[in-house]
Amino acid sequence: MSALGKIFCVITGGSRGLGRSLAIAISRVVSDGSTIILTARSTEALSETSKMVAETNANVTVKSVVADLGNLSAFEVMCTDILDGVDAKDYAQAILIHNAASHMGMTKFKGSEIDDPNAVSNYCNMHFSSTVCLTSKFISAFKGTRRVVVNVSSAAAVNPTPTRSLYCSMKAARVMFLRVMAAEDPDIRLLNYDPGLMKTDLLVNGIADSFNPEFWEGKIDEFDKKGLVVSADTSAEKLILALKMDKYENGSTVSVGDQIIPKI
Ligand SMILES: NC(=O)c1ccc[n+]([C@@H]2O[C@H](COP(=O)([O-])OP(=O)(O)OC[C@H]3O[C@@H](n4cnc5c(N)ncnc54)[C@H](OP(=O)(O)O)[C@@H]3O)[C@@H](O)[C@H]2O)c1
Repeated sequence: MSALGKIFCVITGGSRGLGRSLAIAISRVVSDGSTIILTARSTEALSETSKMVAETNANVTVKSVVADLGNLSAFEVMCTDILDGVDAKDYAQAILIHNAASHMGMTKFKGSEIDDPNAVSNYCNMHFSSTVCLTSKFISAFKGTRRVVVNVSSAAAVNPTPTRSLYCSMKAARVMFLRVMAAEDPDIRLLNYDPGLMKTDLLVNGIADSFNPEFWEGKIDEFDKKGLVVSADTSAEKLILALKMDKYENGSTVSVGDQIIPKI
C-alpha cells in the first residue's frame, strides 16, 4: 500500500500554482483506485492538471469540477458534482484540501477604503462560506471513513499585512474555524498549513495590483535571497509529508519550514 493508501481527495484551486503541484505530488503516494477531484474556474487549466496527474499515475481517477467558489447559487451543484456516486466504503481515507484563493481586486484598497458590502460579501463567500459548507458536505459524505481537512493558510493569518486586509482576515477566520472543529470533532483530522512564499499568480498579481506596489518592491527578491521563497512543488511535498507523518496537533498550524517536517 502507498503512503496515503486508497484515498478520495478534493483539491480546490487545482488548476495551477500550489493546487496543481499538490495534485501531482499526491498522485505519487496513493494506492491504485484512488480518486482526485480538482476544482477551479478554468476548464483548460484544470484539463492540463488532470493530464499531468494521469501521466504521473495512470491508476488514479482524476476528475475536474469547474465552479466558482464565490457563486453560492451554484454551490449545491458543485458539491453534487464533487461527491457524485461516491461510496465512502471504497476508500481508506478522504482528504479535503481548501487551497483556492484569489485577491478579487481587493488589494487595490486599504482596509479603511473598503465600502462596497457586495464586494466584501463576495470575498467572504469565496474564501469562507464555501470553505465552511463544503467541509460540512464532505464530512457527512464520509461518515465512518478516516477524514482529513486541510486549510491552506498563510503567514497572513497572523501577520497584519498592508494591502491584504480581507485576505488576512479570511485566513485568520479559516484557521479559527478548523481549531473550533478540532475541539468539537476530535475524530476528524484537521490541519492548517502555511505553504510559505511561492512565486505564483496569487503573489505576483497581488503585488502588481496592490495600491502600494512600492511596499513590496524588492521584498520578494530579498526574501528569495534569504531562502524564504519556496517552489510550489517543494511546498506540496512538505504538506504531503505532514499528512503522512500525521504527528500534528489537531487543528494546529504547520508551516512549510517547521521542524515537524524534515528537510527534503
Ligand atoms: N503564493 C504565495 O506566496 C502564498 C503564500 C501563502 C499562502 N498561499 C496560499 O496558497 C494557496 C494556493 O495559492 P497559489 O499561490 O497557488 O495561487 P494561484 O497560483 O493563484 O492559484 C489559485 C487557485 O485558486 C483558484 N481560484 C481562484 N479564484 C477562484 C474562485 N473564485 N473559484 C474557484 N477557484 C478559484 C484558481 O483557479 P481559477 O483561476 O482557474 O479559478 C487557482 O487554481 C492559497 O490558499 C493561498 O492563499 C500562497
